[in-house]
Parts: sequence; structure tokens; C-alpha cells
Amino acid sequence: MYVVLLGLPGAGKGTQAALLKDETGLPHVTTGELFRENIRGGTDLGKQAQPFVESGRLVPDEITIGMLLDRISQPDCAGGCMLDGFPRSLEQARALDEALAGKGKRIDRTIYISVATDELVCRLSGRWSCPNCGAVYNETSRPPRTPGICDNCGSRLEQRKDDRPEAVRTRLEVNLKNLEPLLDYYRTQGKLCEASGEGPVEEVARAVRACLEGER
Ligand code: AP5
Ligand code: MG
Repeated sequence: MYVVLLGLPGAGKGTQAALLKDETGLPHVTTGELFRENIRGGTDLGKQAQPFVESGRLVPDEITIGMLLDRISQPDCAGGCMLDGFPRSLEQARALDEALAGKGKRIDRTIYISVATDELVCRLSGRWSCPNCGAVYNETSRPPRTPGICDNCGSRLEQRKDDRPEAVRTRLEVNLKNLEPLLDYYRTQGKLCEASGEGPVEEVARAVRACLEGER
């Protein structure tokens, strides 16, 4: 099963994909994390992507589409995956459909996690992430057991550079512009399901699960 999670920055795409990874068995593929790994590793791709990622602009398609298609052609994604952060434009959605069709596969479901913009700004300013294992926390809604330390691996937590207020504004602007056309694209294909991303994480997970199981 190939699933796309759509949602504005801070909607909870990463939180939900991580939560549902074990029960669905679907690998979590996130373009934002792939870029951050490359930036940390100092690769050529990371160097090209860094100014875009840190300022909150979209990384150009020439870099992003190839990276994503390469990732989903790896063996762990042969039976499907949960895509988080891709596609973000119609061009990317079409490239993904084309690549999957070439392998006799397709996107099965697209889940839009909807959250009001004010709540997103608040969530992003309180987010702390683990640079080692990728776990995501929030000062208010999901604090780590020891402040500043990852519950899973004990690493020191960091705030993402693109969670600074100017970058958050840019990310919201860019993503708001692209969201409606993408929702329309998947709605027209009859694949779109909307899950409210507000309320406790477990409640959101129930709504996402219902979409996955085709109950909504
Ligand atoms: P990416 O890393 O994907 O960033 P994003 O889309 O801005 O999304 P986030 O990761 O910020 O939010 P999320 O929805 O995963 O929320 P989370 O679960 O963390 O992309 C980064 C950058 O890479 C882009 O800006 C761009 O430059 C580049 N890029 C990536 N993909 C690209 C593409 N396809 N094309 C071009 N460029 C691309 O939750 C947020 C916070 O809220 C956390 O603190 C969490 O604990 C908390 N939280 C979660 N759920 C709840 C809840 N229900 N209630 C209260 N708090 C909650
Ligand atoms: Mg994320």
C-alpha cells in the first residue's frame, strides 16, 4: 500500500507516520528528513538543499524528485510506504504517479491532516527533535521525560533551523499556495480522505487509521 500524508508544516505528519509505522508495517519516507540527513552528512545533495531547507523554501524539483524516486525504489518500499512531505506540488504528484505506474503500482490513499494555522505556529515553536533517532517532542503536548534529552536514545534534543519564526512564515506561505491544487488532484482521483489533526495525538491517530482502513 502506498500512502501519502498531506498537511501543512507542523500538522503532525511525522508524528503520525512514526506512530503507525509498526502497526501498518509501512516504512516512513520523509523528504524533509532525507534532506536533513544529507545536510548533516555534508553530501553534495545536502549542500545544494541546505539554503532552501533552512530558509523554508521548496528544494528544486531537479533535486527532490530524483532523491525521492531513488528512495522508494529500495527493497524496503517494494510493498509500499508512507510518504510524508512528498508530493508538495502538482509536478511532484505527476512524477510520482508516472514512476509508480511504470512499476504497475499506484498511490492507494492520500490522507490530509488538517490543522488551523495558529495552532501550527504554536506547535512548531515548541518542537524539539532528536538528531540521532528522529524522535519528535513538543514542550507543551509531548515533553521528553528529561528536558532536552531524547527518551529513546539519550541524545541531546535540537530545535530545527527552519522552526525559526521567519522560516516558519515562509514554509506556511509556500505550502498554503500548493496545498489546494494537490488536494484537488487527489480528490479528483477519488483517493483523498481528510483527518482532523487537532486534539490529542492518539485521537488524530484514530482518524488517520480510519482513513487507512477505508472507513471514511
Ligand atoms: P519537512 O521536514 O517535511 O517539514 P514540514 O513539511 O514543514 O513539516 P514538519 O516536519 O515541520 O511537520 P510535521 O507535519 O511532520 O509535524 P510533526 O509531526 O513534527 O520538510 C522540511 C523542508 O524540506 C521543507 O521546508 C523544504 O525546504 C524541504 N522539502 C521537504 N519535502 C520537500 C518536497 N517534496 N519538495 C521540495 N522541498 C521539500 O509535529 C510538529 C510538532 O507538533 C511537534 O512538536 C509534535 O510533537 C507536535 N504535535 C504533533 N501532533 C500533535 C497534536 N495532535 N497535538 C499537539 N501537538 C502535536
Ligand atoms: Mg515532519
